[in-house]
Amino acid sequence: MTVRQILHMGDPRLLEIARPVTRFDTPELHALVQDLMETMLAEDGAGLAAPQIGVGLRVVVFGFECNPRYPDEESVPQTVLVNPVIEPLSDERNEGWEGCLSVPGLRGAVSRYTRIRYSGFDQTGAAIEREANDFHARVVQHECDHLDGILYPQRMTDMRLFGFNQALEASEHLTAMPCDTRPD
Ligand code: NI
Repeated sequence: MTVRQILHMGDPRLLEIARPVTRFDTPELHALVQDLMETMLAEDGAGLAAPQIGVGLRVVVFGFECNPRYPDEESVPQTVLVNPVIEPLSDERNEGWEGCLSVPGLRGAVSRYTRIRYSGFDQTGAAIEREANDFHARVVQHECDHLDGILYPQRMTDMRLFGFNQALEASEHLTAMPCDTRPD
């Protein structure tokens, strides 16, 4: 169990398509999940994907009870999700602020589906299937994008809504959004 170094945008490993996990309940997979959880907690992240620590496997962790980086958000259940699949439950999307531990110090406005179903497996191979809304849905979409080599700036459509945390917080921007949400 180790707090791992997080790769930053510009590292080509963040742009790769991660491989599916084929063997569950192995010491290697348990160790990877432990490291992801510890690293996420150490950095106050809402989620973390394996490629962010340089492991090209389709594994994400997310969830928090009360997170100092997102004091206004509802809790999201602590989850390990392997080989995830996301299905939007409607066409409805909303715009919200996102951050990323691989893009430190910055925030950007990203459009995401507001209602999704996601499925996959935990580290033992047990099936998971859930419906999620709003911030929970946003976090899952953000983390799963990492598995396809997509960082949130690639999802942005208005680069005027991209900036440094401190500058945005000092401006009207962060409060002007209808849904102020900021994953990982
Ligand atoms: Ni991220």
